[in-house]
Amino acid sequence: MRKPIIAGNWKMNNTQAEAVELINALKPLVADVTKTDVVVCVPYTCIEKVKKAVRGSKIKVGAENVAWADKGAFTGEISANMLKEVGAEYVIIGHSERRQYFGETDKTVNMRTVQALKNDLKPIVCVGETLDEREGGITNKVLDTQLYGAFEGFTQDDIKKVVIAYEPVWAIGTGKTATSEQANDTIKYIRKVLAKMFTRPVANKVRIQYGGSMNPKNASELMAMSDIDGGLIGGASLKAEDFSKVVKFNG
Ligand code: PGA
Repeated sequence: MRKPIIAGNWKMNNTQAEAVELINALKPLVADVTKTDVVVCVPYTCIEKVKKAVRGSKIKVGAENVAWADKGAFTGEISANMLKEVGAEYVIIGHSERRQYFGETDKTVNMRTVQALKNDLKPIVCVGETLDEREGGITNKVLDTQLYGAFEGFTQDDIKKVVIAYEPVWAIGTGKTATSEQANDTIKYIRKVLAKMFTRPVANKVRIQYGGSMNPKNASELMAMSDIDGGLIGGASLKAEDFSKVVKFNG
């Protein structure tokens, strides 16, 4: 059985004070959740404060990117060590916004993910097609390229430590959710690719989230699908009440 994992992706939102306020509101709302992993991935500047604020709860803290190198001349990058020092346990890698605006490629996603694993950070690796790609009928081809690229050179042990987030780009921040069948079918396809790359038993162990306008209204339907193991939540993770409702998708 794969344990569900709901992760918030705050993106470039919240000052330290706002972050602490949000966590303080969230804590009591998810206090009784034990069967789902709850993660908040937050801006670098908030990690340390959020780590302190989640004390006494089961909420885990993550970052939104990580450098592929240990240290050195990489202006603007943050290393795995630096993230761990302030308390990050998870890290989002290859989000479509990074691919779209900051030149992230399958190769750099691969390098960042290798670096995360080397430093015991748990990677949440994002994949997904654009609207043009879906309408052009090349979703599976795009996913093949992203998955083979991101996990090139990975062992079975490596891939078991990775969480994959399937995020159709056209559903991110748009209010357009993939139907639960669409999301489940595509995630099944991702698992099939993993089975080819690794083995079927290994593929069956990897947790795969859906992301893209997931909210309190659609979470339970999406989470009821056979292959959807969690969610990566943008907009709805910025409100404690909404995020807690997604976390408690099963009532
Ligand atoms: P959204 O974002 O929930 O606001 O669509 C999801 C994401 O980008 O991870």
